[in-house]
Amino acid sequence: MAQMMINGKSTPALSGKTLDVLAPSDGLVYDSIPRGEAADVDLACSAARAALEGPWGRFSALERSRLLLNFSRKILDHLDELTDIEARDTGKPLTAARADITVLARYFEYYGGAADKIHGQVIPFLNDYSALLVREPLGVTAHIIPWNYPAQMFGRSTAPALAMGNAVVVKPAEDACLSVIRVAELAQEVGFPPGAINIVTGLGEEAGASLAEHPGIDFISFTGSNEVGIKIQQAAALNAVKCVLELGGKTAHVVFDDANFELAVPTIIKGIVQNTGQTCVAGSRLLVQKEIYTGFMAMLAEAFAKVRAGTPEMDANCGPVISEKQFRRVNRFIDAGINDGLEIICQGEILPGVPEGGYFIAPTLFSADDHSSDLLTQEIFGPVLVALPFSDEADAIRLSNATDYGLQGAVWTENGSRQQRMARGIRCGQLYINCFGAGGGVELPFGGVKRSGHGREKGFIALEELSTTKTIVQFYGA
Ligand code: NAI
Ligand code: MG
Repeated sequence: MAQMMINGKSTPALSGKTLDVLAPSDGLVYDSIPRGEAADVDLACSAARAALEGPWGRFSALERSRLLLNFSRKILDHLDELTDIEARDTGKPLTAARADITVLARYFEYYGGAADKIHGQVIPFLNDYSALLVREPLGVTAHIIPWNYPAQMFGRSTAPALAMGNAVVVKPAEDACLSVIRVAELAQEVGFPPGAINIVTGLGEEAGASLAEHPGIDFISFTGSNEVGIKIQQAAALNAVKCVLELGGKTAHVVFDDANFELAVPTIIKGIVQNTGQTCVAGSRLLVQKEIYTGFMAMLAEAFAKVRAGTPEMDANCGPVISEKQFRRVNRFIDAGINDGLEIICQGEILPGVPEGGYFIAPTLFSADDHSSDLLTQEIFGPVLVALPFSDEADAIRLSNATDYGLQGAVWTENGSRQQRMARGIRCGQLYINCFGAGGGVELPFGGVKRSGHGREKGFIALEELSTTKTIVQFYGA
């Protein structure tokens, strides 16, 4: 049975309750996790506070830097083990799980390298005064992360927090969190003091909600659904703490008539099939200029039909979706698309030999005549791509922006002025031109506008989000 991590110790829930862990590729129970509740969250928050007031709070920037770098290497030393854990827990192909663990290590490498390079400022002020701006940790930071990339999300959220000297309390998702638990054990081995990294597993509405409203936290970051994100912001408001919200997206690829098809086609397919479409930045809409629509779609369909879904060991293009709930949700969207009159252009294949009870969905490419269907405005979170023709630049910008989300955008054209006009016109936090980075790029600031949330993760900017400033004014005259 997997355990939580509180104050440096692997521990069950105080209540002794557990939750089953299922493998998405066969739907069978193979482990359990503690069902943490408010009392467990309370212990974790107290342990984090004590760590800040104790040894962890006294770590110098250089010591934090070295510790994070050692942690990064430790994760890579356990690459095979963590890959297997992640693949089984999420159902993703082994190659993808391996890449995720490598990115997890990269987060600690990147922020380990940064930890001792954050400078304050000296501010010119009145004569005989010295004014300093110093960066300080926020304190106890809470991190509620989703199941689509458990290991990566742990790195993305906690590495900058730890680099800045915060103590973290993490509530990973009940649907997949075994890699996070194992990584937290490795953190203790590598020398994080007790309480610097705490993990409370459990249900969102229990452990998650208790953490979000706990008076002992100084910050909360959340990645997940829009609906829960709004609750998190409300909980944060009760304690007047800052929150960073990443609430998904509905990324559109915009393909103009002068695009490089050979470059665009495989990238667009990867952008929706990767992680079985369960990615906040999945490229789930495809806007194609009407003059090339038929030709481009023919080329895309030919490649899309070759996409395969399989178990982690089959190492296909994608795996199953995470749970029965998500399986039903994605299938509901596919049915709705058919009811809305969208045309299925082609489907990929579920590989023969996948277990009966697995949550497999055939990757599906739809074509639409207008932007009215829910499939074009809502986050499906499955391997479903919907294409639609557009007329000109203005139309492409209007359609790109025709959802409540604003996380990421992508433009395919060789015309440099048009690239720039599109980049300025699409409302989002990250925009790709003739390339697409679904989820990638530890170095690249990331986050949304509109209902995709606010605040930024990744890159150097995350270090600012995970810290605060103090202005120190000193009079040194006679
Ligand atoms: P969710 O938003 O319920 O879960 C995300 C995290 O929030 C999990 O750790 C969960 O335990 C926690 N949580 C749930 N309710 C909570 C509450 N009341 N208070 C505090 N924490 C809570 O997402 P769910 O239900 O797993 O998936 C539904 C949809 O959400 C997906 O189909 C997808 O559209 C979206 N989603 C987006 C993600 C992203 O990467 N932006 C990740 C996961 C889901
Ligand atoms: Mg939920």
